[in-house]
Amino acid sequence: MSDRYCVIGNPIAHSKSPDIHAAFAAQAGQVLTYECCLAPLDGFADTVRALIAQGYKGANVTVPFKLDAAASATSLTERARAAGAVNTLSFVDGGIVGDNTDGAGLVNDITRNAGVPVAGKRVLLLGAGGAARGVILPLLEQGPAELVIANRTRATADALVAEFGSPLLRACGFGDIAEPFDIVINATSASLAGDLPPIPAETFCQETLALDMMYGKQPTVFMQFASRHGAQVRDGLGMLVEQAAEAFTVWRGVRPETPAVLEQLRTSL
Ligand code: ATR
Repeated sequence: MSDRYCVIGNPIAHSKSPDIHAAFAAQAGQVLTYECCLAPLDGFADTVRALIAQGYKGANVTVPFKLDAAASATSLTERARAAGAVNTLSFVDGGIVGDNTDGAGLVNDITRNAGVPVAGKRVLLLGAGGAARGVILPLLEQGPAELVIANRTRATADALVAEFGSPLLRACGFGDIAEPFDIVINATSASLAGDLPPIPAETFCQETLALDMMYGKQPTVFMQFASRHGAQVRDGLGMLVEQAAEAFTVWRGVRPETPAVLEQLRTSL
């Protein structure tokens, strides 16, 4: 029987992960199945137990269960511990390994797909919630000149900076941004509501790469604003494909090629 994987969420029917992993498996000649798994809001741990009993090898985890997944894991990778959240579970003999591939996905999308190194760059991270927290360690590991976290609620950004304790990190409010950054990442949930974080035009220049973690058929308001002020823009579809590629690599020990899968997904939006 082929190895079984799934993505657990609620809701989950919209997930693109089964298509992405099917494409990776076909490309890498790996025999596996990957489907959507709807877990009840109060039933994440039971769902995981049932999957293990059925012989599943692993699962991705999405909204709203990434904290439950961290609690369910019997061991965590360093990047999952830093993220405080888990998006990739591996069911191994006698245990559940919790990992987080979101940050690696973001970094790979920026460095490989956009071709922009993070090393030595001034990076601005907008937001201080779960999405932002998940990418801090992998960004710091690239050796940026600095990583500035700007958040609407300044105290939350201050707390994150204190927690990570890196000399490369500092916090600010949106109103404190006075000069352009090389890389600007929107990790706020503002785009979901069609809102723009209140950042000034000076955040961007011709050399800026502006990336929104959200994606859709149309550019987000953040991407439109950044583009109007000269930045090169990117949505979160590349990060989605890259976090999946990182999970596939964790599970299968083979790194899939992502460009064709990203292109195919883009046309299906
Ligand atoms: P997620 O897991 O998606 O990061 P979250 O933990 O609820 O979700 O965090 C949402 C982030 O988006 C927070 O940084 C939030 O700012 P506050 O800490 O001030 O709440 C930010 N956010 C949400 N809506 C926003 C908006 N309209 N403008 C600016 N920031 C916004």
